[in-house]
Order: sequence, then C-alpha cells, then structure tokens
Amino acid sequence: MLDLGYGTSLFLARLLGERRLVGVDPTAAMPDIARRQPGGDQVTWINEDARTLEINCQFDLIVLTGQAVQVFLNDDDKQAVAFTIAKHLAPKGRLIFDSRNPIYEEWRSWTPTAANYVLRHPRFGEVES
Ligand SMILES: C[S@@+](CC[C@H](N)C(=O)[O-])C[C@H]1O[C@@H](n2cnc3c(N)ncnc32)[C@H](O)[C@@H]1O
Repeated sequence: MLDLGYGTSLFLARLLGERRLVGVDPTAAMPDIARRQPGGDQVTWINEDARTLEINCQFDLIVLTGQAVQVFLNDDDKQAVAFTIAKHLAPKGRLIFDSRNPIYEEWRSWTPTAANYVLRHPRFGEVES
C-alpha cells in the first residue's frame, strides 16, 4: 500500500501486517514524526513530492487521506499526481481518497471562537483545544 501525503502518519503505521507499506510526503519534518508512531519503523518513508515520484514498484492500494488530494490545486498538479498514481497502481489495484465538499464552506466555522472547546480528559483533567 502506498500513502501519498501521509502527514504525521496516524493512519499508515497502524496497518501493519503482511502488507508492504510506503509513505510519501515532501515535508522535511514528517519522516521523523512518522517513524516515532507505533509500527512506524516498519514502514518505508519517502521524503518526496507525489507529483514527481518514481519508484520501481506497483501497489494494490494507493490512498490519499485527510483531504491530501486537495493539496494539488491546479490542473497541472492534479494531472501530475494522477500520472504518479497510474504508474504505481497495480492492475486491478484500488485508489481511495477523500475530499471536502466546498459547497458546505466548512472553513467559515474555523474561527477561534467557533473552534475552541474544553474537554475533560480522564487523566489530564480539563483540556482546552
Ligand atoms: C491535509 S494533510 C493530510 C495528512 C494525512 N494524510 C492525514 O490523513 O492526516 C496533507 C499532506 O499532504 C502533504 N503534501 C503536500 N504537498 C504534497 C505533495 N506535492 N506530494 C505529497 N504530499 C504532499 C503535506 O505535507 C501534508 O502532510
């Protein structure tokens, strides 16, 4: 399985088993964070741009989670990542991605007042998020 734009890898490192897992993200800090996740030492982390990725390997499953697909903003970037996916997807392989629906304009609620909340953690008490 190949995870494009793995971020902090809260997803990928938890899928260990018989699978070969590869994560790709161009942000310099990500491999260090990802390696520290449980199981993170068994994933191959590649510090690269998904638009230009060339690894000599095909995958049964390619994922872009947490709206990672929406970092590709213009047609050239979308086409470039689509070529990367086509190149690295095995015959009958699957692509899974999620994206926000801009019609809902969720960002309107991403203000400090609307987004702040306090929760009661069983161990740490009151936590402001
Ligand atoms: C919204 S985050 C999603 C992270 C992760 N997949 C998740 O579910 O939490 C988008 C990720 O895409 C990565 N990214 C940005 N540009 C990229 C590119 N050109 N190729 C691959 N990943 C990219 C960012 O570094 C970031 O980690």
